[in-house]
Amino acid sequence: MTQDELKALVGRAALDHVVPGSVVGVGTGSTVNHFIDALATIKDRIAGAVSSSVKSTERLQAHGIPVLDAATIERIPVYIDGADEIDGRGCMIKGGGAALTREKIVADLAERFVCIVDASKRVEVLGRFPLPVEVIPMAAAQISRHFAAMYGGRAVLRAGVVTDNGNHLLDVHGLRITDPFGMETEVSQWPGVVTVGIFARHRARICLLGTEQGVSTLTFD
Ligand code: 5RP
Repeated sequence: MTQDELKALVGRAALDHVVPGSVVGVGTGSTVNHFIDALATIKDRIAGAVSSSVKSTERLQAHGIPVLDAATIERIPVYIDGADEIDGRGCMIKGGGAALTREKIVADLAERFVCIVDASKRVEVLGRFPLPVEVIPMAAAQISRHFAAMYGGRAVLRAGVVTDNGNHLLDVHGLRITDPFGMETEVSQWPGVVTVGIFARHRARICLLGTEQGVSTLTFD
């Protein structure tokens, strides 16, 4: 199977985790696009969606799925999203699609995060994928210096990218994230960091992993 076929497989499998009659949290990316297309087939059985990006909102609306304002939602049962990497505890690197801030906001509304990925995203230690960090533009150089001094990371500005929130993105190379909780806490405190793409506090509780043998379900505490 191609990587895209594996993404489609887990995108469809995620329908089993949608709670009938509820509002569904929807992530961003090529895997989630398959989920959105599958969600359209049961759109009459959900109350709508809360979206994590302009792109996902447009795709949901094109299917006639109502998109609700996250600011009006107090709690949703489930948030379904992809990841760039996921480790053995369900901690993830996210933000390859530049949507990490809204993704973390919607994940925070959810009782559980269901991660949908192809098997290539499962890693032992996070960090091979450059860590995305959304930053206020005037702080980018100083944040890059902090990464170099504290973690030996090399931050590169993602050229030409402005997030849905009007900010810039750094991609930090050369990290080996053995303590995702600690690094998420530390980096989140640096002035000008909007969101760091480590999802440890908002880690996945369930991961649907697309493999050649089919969908494997991993669960985390
Ligand atoms: C977007 C993300 C995506 O979930 C992540 O980049 C994975 O994307 P894809 O499903 O296209 O491989 O975090 O900000």
